[in-house]
Amino acid sequence: MSPGPKLVVKDKNKKNVFWPSDEMRERAWVGTDRIYKDAAKSPKDFWANLARDGLTWSKPWKKVYEGKPPYFKWFLGGQLNASYNCLDRHLETRGNKVAIIWEAEPEFERERKITYRGLYREVCKFSNVLRKLGVKKGDRVGIYLPMIPEVMVAMLSCARIGAIHSVVFSAFSGSNFKKRVEDCEAKVLITCDGYYRRGKPIVLKNQADVAASAKSVKKVVVVKRFDNKTKVKIAMKKGRDLWYHNLMAKASEDSKAVPVESNTPLFLLYTSGTTGKPKGVIHDTAGYLTQAYWTTLFNFDIHEDDVFWCTADIGWITGHTYNCYGPLSVGATMVIYEGSPDMPDWGRLWKIADKFDVSVFYTAPTAIRMFKKMGVKWPAHYDLSTLRILGTVGEPIDMETWHWYFKHICNNCCPVIDTWWQTETGGTLVNALPGVGPFIPTVAGRPFPGTVADILDDKGKPVKKGETGYLVFRPPFPPGLLRGVWKNPKKYRDTYWSEYGPKVYYTSDGAKWYDKHNIRVTGRVDDVMKVAGHRLSSAEVEDAITSHPEVIVSAVVPKPDEIRGQVPVAFIVLRPEVKPSPEVEASIVKQVKKEIGPTAKPHQIFFVKGLPKTRSGKIMRRFLRSILVNEKLGDASTLQNPEIVPYLKKLVGYRGK
Ligand code: PRX
Repeated sequence: MSPGPKLVVKDKNKKNVFWPSDEMRERAWVGTDRIYKDAAKSPKDFWANLARDGLTWSKPWKKVYEGKPPYFKWFLGGQLNASYNCLDRHLETRGNKVAIIWEAEPEFERERKITYRGLYREVCKFSNVLRKLGVKKGDRVGIYLPMIPEVMVAMLSCARIGAIHSVVFSAFSGSNFKKRVEDCEAKVLITCDGYYRRGKPIVLKNQADVAASAKSVKKVVVVKRFDNKTKVKIAMKKGRDLWYHNLMAKASEDSKAVPVESNTPLFLLYTSGTTGKPKGVIHDTAGYLTQAYWTTLFNFDIHEDDVFWCTADIGWITGHTYNCYGPLSVGATMVIYEGSPDMPDWGRLWKIADKFDVSVFYTAPTAIRMFKKMGVKWPAHYDLSTLRILGTVGEPIDMETWHWYFKHICNNCCPVIDTWWQTETGGTLVNALPGVGPFIPTVAGRPFPGTVADILDDKGKPVKKGETGYLVFRPPFPPGLLRGVWKNPKKYRDTYWSEYGPKVYYTSDGAKWYDKHNIRVTGRVDDVMKVAGHRLSSAEVEDAITSHPEVIVSAVVPKPDEIRGQVPVAFIVLRPEVKPSPEVEASIVKQVKKEIGPTAKPHQIFFVKGLPKTRSGKIMRRFLRSILVNEKLGDASTLQNPEIVPYLKKLVGYRGK
């Protein structure tokens, strides 16, 4: 545990408000709150300075910002390359510094340490492989890989040649991957034979094959993760499937990074919204990278000797920004871990942190809740004295969990940075800075310098302190904010720019002001849930359930869960001739796993004779949600079928009034 000094409580009446120690303040890149005031004078100049100082440009921009609501651009006319910024420019000063420390799940395998030069070489070679396979600037490449260094190699190789990557979470099913591949018309897919999870080899290639049948796919590159002793069977389709190592053996190390205009898409990342179909969120190159660079540096206060570990999977935005573009663009050493936190026991993450002297640790509240449940003996067993900063992301963190993290992982000596952000924002947007503070449990903190946040009521008026409203952002929009939804401008406009008009970015999160500067985020206000930190929409799971031949209709709502934050609960109407049974239930669960993946598996299923509906036929998920948590129900008289409410209450065992 960290030997100190402890964070400071300045005001005895505010025992839950922590401030950085002098040591932390002095060490930090940002040690006073002046940055907020300075940035607010001209956010455009502020970001322009950051982009100039943080990134290496091939050509300077002509104009800093242009807003054509709901579209906007940053650094217009400038040219740069993201892979150059993550690799080439470090070679002279950090060539031999370790960029990635990879830990396999099986403990008998040794860690891999890849230097910046080593990573650069791999990326040069693989970018040439992609070129040979016919991938050109603007083409889409689907990446379906677990947490192995080749996933970063694949992403940076796409960036090097101006291709757009679309990484899909490897625990998603093949058919889910296929939907995304079809939407973005990926030409080439990159996957692997499999990976280790909970001590077992999991085959991925057979899932990738489902997506490889999409019309656009010409080639599939397969990384060999397993050794020859691992007995798994995978099929390689002649002419389409190619082994990564064979291609790499013949590839040249000479690869020029292609400069692209600032606003060129760098990647797509599909995420869940209120409809069943995931949206391809578009992130650009310069704005995104500026935000990735500076949020990594400022939030995690990265210095040359730091070892940064973000436990997110690369399939999510947190993985993209804080397991690839952020740490690599600042030239940090980062840890990535292939497997499960309980392998072989609940001490594994702390063992890794101890082994590699991790100094900055960033994880999700759901993981901390699990550690809390498993007991302090696990972290207590390891030397975590190198830790300086702790972070959380993905969902609101409750008071008890925050304090457990603070006390048992760092002995009250590290700032706990609660970072609020979204797939759409590209980088963190609301959090305390480690050298500035304050760190207040359940309060995310302050909007990042140079960003203009507000909390509005239903009518669009700013709320007063303590009132809950909707979190929004105003122009100039953060450079990392999404630039569109792939092939769907309507969705882009409707989802983010219609609630308060095209000049206000709507987050779909509820929030309130804790004080003049600090924001407490209360969670999603739409039909999106966070299940163990994973974003999942009701409609997406309902679509998967309804695709089962024996289901007529379903409604999926979140239920609070002690560890996972929320879990999906399904209400299902079966065909009249079908009787509910454990077999039907199992086959519906199987269908959900096939369509989406195990993360979407309903926690509980109720077979019902009907669902609450409005007169126009819309399912009122709100009633179901309230029944599940014994909350006071709204007025049921406006329903088409009010008699369904007492029936559902009885079925679920409603204890409310
Ligand atoms: O509801 C907010 C919640 O996660 C949502 C975004 O999910 P996703 O796109 O998967 O990105 C997660 C990682 C950036 C938000 O709309 N959320 C994220 N961070 C926090 C949070 N809620 C409260 N506090 C946070 N720190």
